[in-house]
Amino acid sequence: MGDWTGQADLGPVQFREIAAIMQKEARIHLVEAKATLVHSRLSRRLREHGLTRFADYLALVRDDAKERDAMVVALTTNHTHFFRENHHFGHLRETLLPRLQARARAGEKVRIWSAGCSSGEEVYSIAMTLAGESGTSANWLKQGDVRLLATDIAPHVVEAVHQARYSSSTVQPIPAAYRRQWLRQEGTDSHVVTDTLRSLVTARVLNLFEPWPMRQRYDAIFCRNVMIYFDDPAKAELEARFVEMLAPGGTLYIGHSERLIGPAAAQMEPAGQTIYVKKGGAR
Ligand SMILES: C[S@@+](CC[C@H](N)C(=O)[O-])C[C@H]1O[C@@H](n2cnc3c(N)ncnc32)[C@H](O)[C@@H]1O
Repeated sequence: MGDWTGQADLGPVQFREIAAIMQKEARIHLVEAKATLVHSRLSRRLREHGLTRFADYLALVRDDAKERDAMVVALTTNHTHFFRENHHFGHLRETLLPRLQARARAGEKVRIWSAGCSSGEEVYSIAMTLAGESGTSANWLKQGDVRLLATDIAPHVVEAVHQARYSSSTVQPIPAAYRRQWLRQEGTDSHVVTDTLRSLVTARVLNLFEPWPMRQRYDAIFCRNVMIYFDDPAKAELEARFVEMLAPGGTLYIGHSERLIGPAAAQMEPAGQTIYVKKGGAR
């Protein structure tokens, strides 16, 4: 049993109910050690409804599907940054890019998915890597059928992908040549991704454990620092669906502390640190 002192009336009973809702709605696995975090993230929701007791908030959540969704979103962790785990972008540039360019020039579709995209730093890092350092190096993107999909369960971060507007400190990790080419400064502390890259990206709200509407197979899927929040059966289920969604030879990038654990791993070949390629073809 965790230490509940200082958690107001968020006791073990309320915590267990919150954890059960998170498990059911998003497959997010909350352990009691997260009680302080849950308390601080949900306090705002309580205040918004003029409530002071978690028991009363949970009574509301039981009846109100909209508030249940808001609770799930409030308990997601959206931490991200540009060019996070930079070796993945090195692999994308060195290994995938030449093949993707060849395929696009041959009239084939190129599709990449940032699954659990948070506020878009991941998908725009992918876009900058594909575009290179100049307008000329990005020409293949305009000429080919290239689409990047960014999805997340949290609507406010999906809105941030649409806005594509980042502060000066947020854009700091972007290599200077990309910053100059692909960001437009607006005001003193606001940098907007240029239309050339934004037009490649489709951003949608999607719970990864609900049906996926996409029909085509993907050349690459980035699902990084998302599966850490799920329990093992949920991870294995998701892995199997990602493998199914990849074209033969397609690449799966996962987070630094993640690994493939389910039977679907047998269909994947390790291709570098937290990089896996689906067997059965070159892509
Ligand atoms: C820590 S962020 C990772 C962002 C980015 N992939 C990265 O590595 O920087 C995890 C994201 O996963 C999303 N997420 C958590 N559970 C999800 C689910 N069941 N379906 C879709 N997205 C989910 C969260 O909303 C959050 O934005």
